[in-house]
Amino acid sequence: MSSSGREQFGSSLTYIMAMAGSAIGLGNIWRFPYMVGEHGGGAFIIAYIICGLFLAVPCFICEAMIGRRGRRDVYGSFEHLAPGTKWKWMGGVSVLASFIIVSFYCVVGGWSLDFLVRSLSGHLSQGDPEAAAGVFQRMASGTIEPISMYVAFLLATAIIVVGGVKKGIERFTKITTPLLFFLMVAMVIYSVSLPGAMAGVKYLLQPDISKLDASGWACALGQAFFSMSLGMGTVLVYSSFMKKEDSILKGGLWTAVSDTVFAIIAGFAIMPAVFSAGIEPTAGPSLVYETLPYIFAKMGAEAPVLSFVMTVVFFLAILSAALTSSISMLEVCIEHAVHRFGCKRWTAAVVFLIPILALGVPCVLSFGGLSGFKIFGLTVFDLCDYLSSNVLMTLGALAFALFVGWYMKKDDVRDELTNGGTLGLSGKAFKPLYFFIRWVVPPAIIIIFVSTLV
Ligand code: PHE
Repeated sequence: MSSSGREQFGSSLTYIMAMAGSAIGLGNIWRFPYMVGEHGGGAFIIAYIICGLFLAVPCFICEAMIGRRGRRDVYGSFEHLAPGTKWKWMGGVSVLASFIIVSFYCVVGGWSLDFLVRSLSGHLSQGDPEAAAGVFQRMASGTIEPISMYVAFLLATAIIVVGGVKKGIERFTKITTPLLFFLMVAMVIYSVSLPGAMAGVKYLLQPDISKLDASGWACALGQAFFSMSLGMGTVLVYSSFMKKEDSILKGGLWTAVSDTVFAIIAGFAIMPAVFSAGIEPTAGPSLVYETLPYIFAKMGAEAPVLSFVMTVVFFLAILSAALTSSISMLEVCIEHAVHRFGCKRWTAAVVFLIPILALGVPCVLSFGGLSGFKIFGLTVFDLCDYLSSNVLMTLGALAFALFVGWYMKKDDVRDELTNGGTLGLSGKAFKPLYFFIRWVVPPAIIIIFVSTLV
């Protein structure tokens, strides 16, 4: 506990672990590979790394500063730091963004749960690889099964957030995240050895820059924000529990590095197998869930026991990575309701679950009964995905950068970044970083954002 009575992370390592837990999730394993496939392979990876390093890391620092200085939920932090201004409405935007993200994220979480159940039955690691790739279409286009899995994943998220078992799941991910890492490295090695896989490796390593249009850049930026859980309050809320002595710069850099390494490894685990299986790289959200069963079934033909164990552990690890991300999204909504309306955490959860379900079920059915129902040419799922990462998170991150660069006093920003002048490295980084936050980050985000609208 701090002197203000607010609970705090015990050490900077706990903060980094919690942030990495939020950042590393389906965004890396499921979303990144399909974004790479939709936007020209290696060229997208270059754009993603540029956006991550030069835009997402500074935005992370801004959001974290507001949280640690505000020591409240998003709305309360802005109200505290900018009393009597409209900045507090950012709280509303953040809650809206997190509500939309949880609604569609749990669909993919539900798929992971479904695949875990299937892998336990030995279903995924045996049989014909080509047929295995079709398992996803049959499952996702159904009704009862994907909806039940969606509800189960959503309820698990809510119970963890409300029931205070967060510590338990965090302890669990301390084991499963490194495990996932090693499993994915093993999958890269296996995937690259498949016949025809070299075309996938080339696709990733020989960037065709001409394929990178304005929409590619906007998606790279949105992906960088989505993957680092930026621009919708998660970083702010988690940082509100951060100790005054810990380094924000260090937190941002560690989160970015671990998150990016995970994403790139996932790309190299999936893309060679995509080419080997003859799956279209542009398949979209289904890409990874078609490719994984293919890889496991191929492996199963050679080493059935190993493949069975690997499939089960892999989906268990994905599920726990997905849960540490989904709880960090729901936390933004719950913290807001508790601080603003003084309600109990479980009341807040019940109140939020109803609209989440109302939006989530059409998201589930976007792959089945509602696949023909389109708004602006997108299914409900695709619209939620696009709206949250490419619009709300991008604008949220922009607002956080503008707040720190142009509203907060320069001395306060320096104080936060250098912990009152006690951090040497951050002290040296302050001048260029501050310049960057004021003069580079906002115009760059605006240019990328507007160019897609044009
Ligand atoms: N970063 C998470 C992932 O990669 C998703 C997320 C987005 C989590 C926004 C929290 C907030 O899966």
